[in-house]
Amino acid sequence: MQTGVQALAGPQLQMLFGRFQSLLAKNLQAIAAGKTQFDLLDLIEKVMFAASVDSLFGEGTYSPQVLADFHAFSNSMSTRSAGSDPSLGNAKGVEARERLLKVVANKRPDAAEAIKSLSTLVNDSKYAPEAHLAALMAMWGANVNTVPSAFWTIIQLLHQPAQVRDQLKQEHVAAGGHPTTRADLSEEARPLLHSVVSEALRLHSRPNSYRVARSDCTVGEYAIEEGQWVWIYPRASLHHDPAAFPDPLQFQPSRFVAKEGHPPMEFDSASLRAFGGGTGPCPGKGFALLALKATVDLLINQSTAQLGLADPNAPIPEAVTETVASTPPPVHSVDVTFTKTCSSCHRRPA
Ligand code: HEM
Repeated sequence: MQTGVQALAGPQLQMLFGRFQSLLAKNLQAIAAGKTQFDLLDLIEKVMFAASVDSLFGEGTYSPQVLADFHAFSNSMSTRSAGSDPSLGNAKGVEARERLLKVVANKRPDAAEAIKSLSTLVNDSKYAPEAHLAALMAMWGANVNTVPSAFWTIIQLLHQPAQVRDQLKQEHVAAGGHPTTRADLSEEARPLLHSVVSEALRLHSRPNSYRVARSDCTVGEYAIEEGQWVWIYPRASLHHDPAAFPDPLQFQPSRFVAKEGHPPMEFDSASLRAFGGGTGPCPGKGFALLALKATVDLLINQSTAQLGLADPNAPIPEAVTETVASTPPPVHSVDVTFTKTCSSCHRRPA
């Protein structure tokens, strides 16, 4: 039995992500058929949640009831322990949790390997006694942060001058993409896409890491004794520190693009702590980054329709403050429109 959380990586990650990406496109096609106006958060959630749940737990796992239960469960959680103590949640949340436990217990033959052998994903001594709680934790972890992270990336992009989205499209085409075909999503092939996703995480995520000191040590001016709990909150101490990121409250799309002729940045996207770090980082980081890039690419670059704000003056909403998510959702969503473009090229309609 594994004693720790193992990261989703290698062929397992590639297979899981391949399924996710196919389902993502299929979901968008079904949802967008015949419609032109959407609630952005709702659109992203319907497309991403169904793709993530069906790629992890097997096709047919997703249903609108599963999504409704996920909301009730997630909203009722007052700690990051994912309901290990059901009394922490409200009655509606506890009922939703029970239904979701039945859903994740119903293992399908096409479920991802990480779900079939959960001991590789989650340290069960930590999430025991209920074996399926670990699977529910994976469902929660896989969705609670990715959907808001995609929302913040896309809303920030829609508020940028059109040239930024045009540059992203050019990068998409240069990486082999077309309105109906996928492009290479690697950081090397897509430095701007990697940068906008990293920048949205830097600006909007509020990750926490809790650690216990193994020995007496000093961090900066703080003396920490062996056995003491340490709370790491990099939003204030790193992500929004002007010494690390000048104009930290401004969304700069190419902040993380390495610029020729400039010395490498002291703080690049590898030093972001949106996924935690050190001894226990998020095991879903690789999947989450690919899922975010694929969603942004699909909605901004790969569609035969142009995504825009329904009201160009609609401001970027505030984030919810009381949440256990690492990337909080917005307090309200924003309406967006899809305007048909030429089906065989990237041009906007005249
Ligand atoms: C944008 C998306 C995501 C963000 C921002 C995020 C962030 C985080 C953070 C900050 C932690 C705590 C790490 C620490 O203690 O230092 C964490 C833990 C965790 N994440 Fe993620 N995560 C994301 C996506 C995912 C995905 C896609 C999965 C699964 C497929 C996942 C599964 C988990 C699990 C199981 C843990 C608990 C690990 C443990 O306690 O040892 N996360 N995540």
